[in-house]
Amino acid sequence: MKIVLLGYMGSGKSTVGKKLAAQLGIPFTDLDDYIEESLGNSIPEIFLNKGEIFFRKQEHLYLRKILESEGDKVIALGGGTPCYSNNMNLILEKTPHVFYLSVPIPELNARLLTGKADRPLIRDLKDEELPEFIGKHLFERRNYYSLATHTIQAGGKEVHELVSEIVTLL
Ligand code: S3P
Repeated sequence: MKIVLLGYMGSGKSTVGKKLAAQLGIPFTDLDDYIEESLGNSIPEIFLNKGEIFFRKQEHLYLRKILESEGDKVIALGGGTPCYSNNMNLILEKTPHVFYLSVPIPELNARLLTGKADRPLIRDLKDEELPEFIGKHLFERRNYYSLATHTIQAGGKEVHELVSEIVTLL
């Protein structure tokens, strides 16, 4: 069984994914970490040196690799993964367990204010520009996110609550 978690930057995909995998007793893979380890470069460095198009190609290749690997896995995607390279079709072909962690903009904003530096798409924005950017970006991306088989309202909830919700839907 492959379980995929998706959602905007800062929605808690990795945190929830790790706990979910531990509870189910299966391995966890964070797509961004996997790309960084495989290429020997951080995501900001990859964006800077090779550009976003190169990153999106690698993202697609490593996503396919994970989805086609043997065994059970919880997989946390990057925020943009569902929106490029026909990745959502690939994911939905491989598994019916696809969870969108939907978090309200003010909560995303609060989390991303402290998490901006490692994220090339937002690191150069001024703090006061962030909410409007998130709002517009999320509006574009929601069309892809909403293709998930389940939407979890993840605002204001503890990690263990989200894990339980997901487990009941498996
Ligand atoms: C991105 C989100 C990041 C990372 C890259 C691009 C995006 O992952 O994949 O910086 O396009 O939203 P997180 O969602 O884990 O921050």
